[in-house]
Amino acid sequence: MSAATPGPAPAVPVVAIDGPSGAGKGTVARLVATRLGWHWLDSGALYRVVGLVGRRHGLAPGDEAGHAELAGRIDIVFGGDAATDTVWADGADLSRELRTEEVGHLASAVAAQPRVRAALTGRQRAFRRLPGLVADGRDMGSAIFPDATLKVFLTATVAERAERRYKQLKDKGLGGSLADLSRDIEERDRRDAGRAASPLVRTDDALLVDSTGRSIEAVVAEVLELAAARGLQAAAR
Ligand code: C5P
Repeated sequence: MSAATPGPAPAVPVVAIDGPSGAGKGTVARLVATRLGWHWLDSGALYRVVGLVGRRHGLAPGDEAGHAELAGRIDIVFGGDAATDTVWADGADLSRELRTEEVGHLASAVAAQPRVRAALTGRQRAFRRLPGLVADGRDMGSAIFPDATLKVFLTATVAERAERRYKQLKDKGLGGSLADLSRDIEERDRRDAGRAASPLVRTDDALLVDSTGRSIEAVVAEVLELAAARGLQAAAR
């Protein structure tokens, strides 16, 4: 009698939330993950860590090989669950510095380097664990999890995104003028959508959600409804 062969591994469902900077992806993804009791991947934080640690190591922004090497070996640990957004890199808590506009720009520069993206691909896929994953970024639905059960393209007008960023930075005691933030957001949009390596795109199968003029709660509720319509349920607790 032959031993029973194990069946196929259960598919781990993924909700991919992509969109431009400041559309509310991080907050929405974190809350959706918390409500579902699923894991959360803030993929932008990985690019931010690589940009920041690269600068601390004295790498030139265009040093693709150097950044790719770092991307493959930095020990990156996220806070225990989806309710926190603490990020440690090689044992140092970088959470606060990671969120600055300056580091956003460093991240956007290294994110255009194909070898850095390649080095982070497997690391991002490793977050896909039961009971499910909510992943936010620019290429979650297009490149990292093309088989995601639900793909959302979350957007908002530039004016609203700049306004939100301004408030966020102010709440954290960080500076920035509204005009500078609008310009930065437009520049980052152009760079993210215009690069050759995994540009920000809305895939044909991504559902458009516009957060302009809406509360976070309303957007979270909409994403949860879309998830429920795909048969995605909260994990049993
Ligand atoms: O989402 P966040 O603002 O933290 O991302 C920082 C930068 O990292 C983005 O401007 C983008 O250039 C890059 N990024 C990316 N692909 C992702 C997530 C972020 O290219 N999946």
